[in-house]
Amino acid sequence: MLQFLIEKLSNHPGLFLFCRGVFEANFRAIRRTIREQLPAQPGGRVLDVACGPGAFSELFPAEGYVGVDMNERYIRYAQRHYPGTFQIMDARKLHFDDDTFDDVLVYGLLHHLDDADARAVLEGISRVLKPSGRVLIIEDIPTESRLNLIGHLLHRIENGHFIRTAEEYRGLLDGYLRQQGEQFFRSGFCDYYMASLTARQETASAATAARAQQAT
Ligand SMILES: C[S@@+](CC[C@H](N)C(=O)[O-])C[C@H]1O[C@@H](n2cnc3c(N)ncnc32)[C@H](O)[C@@H]1O
Repeated sequence: MLQFLIEKLSNHPGLFLFCRGVFEANFRAIRRTIREQLPAQPGGRVLDVACGPGAFSELFPAEGYVGVDMNERYIRYAQRHYPGTFQIMDARKLHFDDDTFDDVLVYGLLHHLDDADARAVLEGISRVLKPSGRVLIIEDIPTESRLNLIGHLLHRIENGHFIRTAEEYRGLLDGYLRQQGEQFFRSGFCDYYMASLTARQETASAATAARAQQAT
């Protein structure tokens, strides 16, 4: 019943954002973390992978911002409410040229994906990221405090079935990006792992060549 309600609610972008905002203290900690860890760069191109209804596009200059999400309703909502470019796209198959983006934001996607799908996303990100590019990943981790009953409940009813530990996220990210820093923080009732990363290889073509060599 609760699952059914969550799915219904997720179909309404405005309501989805509002409810998450209630449980995440209006996303204050999330916004602060994005501003601090991925400060907007003048003239920079930013890719927001799984941008949802687009609420975090406001943290970047509209002319350089591209948000992609698989959910058509969210993208239509984002196009109506926020400046920037929004496209319906599966994050596992990013349709952008190599070395296109200076910055990539991933907030709340990987815990919806199994390891194979998460790896496909990370592979795409490492390809479209410029050699000097930066990546910020913010993902749910298991609720830390036993007293945070609402946090535990949210994880039970939400549809992210692959909430990992920090160790598990590190293991996933390591093959694709170079870790520069990490933090753990609470946003409302939700506990998060944040990793700031840079490109692992000198260029996307070097990375492709390295992978081809590994495969032989
Ligand atoms: C928890 S929401 C986070 C959305 C957004 N980052 C935000 O915070 O508002 C997860 C998002 O991942 C999107 N998503 C899940 N799998 C996807 C995929 N394979 N490609 C693109 N988007 C995907 C969902 O449509 C949803 O918008």
